[in-house]
Parts: sequence; C-alpha cells; structure tokens
Amino acid sequence: MIAVGLDFETRKLTHRECEPPSTLGPHDVIWQVLEVGVCGTDRDLATFHRGYPPPGEKFLTIGHEAVGRVFRLGADVTDLQVGDWVVPTVRRGCPLPCLECRRGRRDLCTTGKFTERGIFGRHGYFTEFAVDAAADLIPIPQTILSRAILVEPLSVVEKTIATALRLHPATPRTALIFGAGPVGLLTALALEVRGIDVTVHSLEDPSNPRAVLLTRAGIRYRTDNLEKADIVIEAAGSTQAAFRGLSLLAPNGVCAVLGAHNGDGHVPFLDMIIGNKTVFGSVNAHPGAFDAAVKDIARFSPQLLDSMLTRKPWRDYGAIVDPPAGAIKVVHTLSDHLH
Ligand code: BGC
Repeated sequence: MIAVGLDFETRKLTHRECEPPSTLGPHDVIWQVLEVGVCGTDRDLATFHRGYPPPGEKFLTIGHEAVGRVFRLGADVTDLQVGDWVVPTVRRGCPLPCLECRRGRRDLCTTGKFTERGIFGRHGYFTEFAVDAAADLIPIPQTILSRAILVEPLSVVEKTIATALRLHPATPRTALIFGAGPVGLLTALALEVRGIDVTVHSLEDPSNPRAVLLTRAGIRYRTDNLEKADIVIEAAGSTQAAFRGLSLLAPNGVCAVLGAHNGDGHVPFLDMIIGNKTVFGSVNAHPGAFDAAVKDIARFSPQLLDSMLTRKPWRDYGAIVDPPAGAIKVVHTLSDHLH
C-alpha cells in the first residue's frame, strides 16, 4: 500500500510503498482509509516546521483528518462491525499515563509525552489501511458520510466553543471570529446554530468564496469596522489578530486563541480585570467533542459544507504546499468507494 509523508533524511514530502497491517490486538480494528483532509498543520509539517517520526524511524506518514471503513475486527471488539464508517481521533496518551490521559482526556495531557497520529511520533492516515483501538474510532452515520472529513477540525471547534461558553460568566450573545479558513468557518456555523450573532473578520475581499459562503449562511463578514463581542475566537494563525481580539472583548468577554504562534503584543490586564475578561488557548479534542461534531455536521447546510471541500486524488499531495486557488479545504481520496 502507499503512504504519503515526510522523509526526514531528504527533507521532502514524498510517498513510499509499505506493508499493509496484518496483525491486530483483541481491542483493535484494521480500517480502510478512504479520504484524508489537509489543514495548516499539514502545511507546517510539509515544510518541516513541525512534527517528527516514530522512534527509530526516518519517515512519518502524515494525515490526521480521515474517514474510512472498518475492515477487520479484533477478537474482543463488540461495538463496531465490519463495513462501519469511522473517523479516528488524533492524540494518543502519554506512556505512564498521566491522570488526564488515564481519564480519557488526552487532549489535556500534562506530561507533553503524548503522540499524535500523522504529527508527533506516530504514523498518520495518508495511507490505505490503518490500525487503531476501537475506542479511538468515532462511528459516522451514513447520512453525513460525504462531509465526515470535517468531523476532526470541527471537534477542535466544539471543544473550544464548549470551553468559551463555560468560561463566560454571563450570557454571551455576540461572537467575533478572526479568520475565514476551515476552522473559522466551522466556528461561525457552530456558534450561529447556537443562536449567537456571529461576525467573521478576515482580509479576503467579500467576493472571495469564503466570504460568499458566510453570507449565504446569513453570517456577517467584515474586512474592517469591527465591534466588540462577548466571544472572540482567533482562528487566523495571527498573533496580531489575537491581540486585536483582546481589545475587542465586551465586558465579561472570553477570547480563545487557536492559531497565533509568534510575536509580542500588549495584554490589556487592567481592562481584563475591570471587565472580568478571560483569554484561553485550546488544542486537540476529546471523544465527546468528536460526538458533538458528528451531531453538528448533521445540523449545518449540506450545500455549504460541500462547497468547502475540493477533492483531489492521493497523487496530488503536492497540493498540501500549493493548494488550488479558491479551495477552502483540500481532501485527498485514497479510494473511490466513498462516492
Ligand atoms: C489538529 C489537532 C492537533 C493539533 C496540534 C491540529 O491540526 O487538529 O488534533 O492536536 O493540530 O498538533
């Protein structure tokens, strides 16, 4: 079978042939990968700015957003059937494991010794078959199958929104989202179905497909003239946006930072104290957030979600670093069986 990934010797994004998995433990499942989605993390990986291979190896199979079908069951697996559709979770717990990993919240791992499929020290899903513990696979109903590739990015959004709503000490009514990439768009849709008045800010012209998608969903799109909001989400990968977001928090406001990495700025501490404001970071997601994502995908307009996806054959993996113009999320197909 083929595997697309990073060769750490030549420092190239490439593909190789490898043996399909044959042995499986009693609680494991072999599943066939049908689609893999690409995100900013994969672009960072493909340019060797993030990620590392499994111990002792020089190659990392990438891909952490995936959809597939159960192929073989371990002897003790009872809650999945051959042929079931699944989406895998990404993070695997630390070896000891810590208290959080032990209680099923690897997304909150306290040792930092976790691994992540296709990112940190564990092969990912840009390949034809994979093995996972049945508990790490989220069942997907047939009705959302063609949009299920969005479950993983939406799981990250679901965790963030749940945290923001929990931290807000009053009644949040408005949200401002920085960034109109897949995470920004999914955040906007998820807040909108919860009755929040959402504005998305990004730099693209209002004629850009991302802005058009938002307008079609009845969500405000602004390139400037921003107003204060109860919930601010930075999904632009920009530190400047995160600081601007802090300055646009309404009293009692909560700001989530999802993508900003480098750069300094001013934290308005006094204003945050006087206004009971909160800022937090969030990464990864737990199985409950994946379940919430599966439910929300079924609530969003199928046409809108479909318009976010651009499918390409697996061989076009060069699109990870050079995405086609106008594409919002590129999805690589490993097999024709999904459609
Ligand atoms: C993934 C997360 C992961 C994070 C950091 C994101 O793209 O969606 O699951 O934890 O990258 O590696």
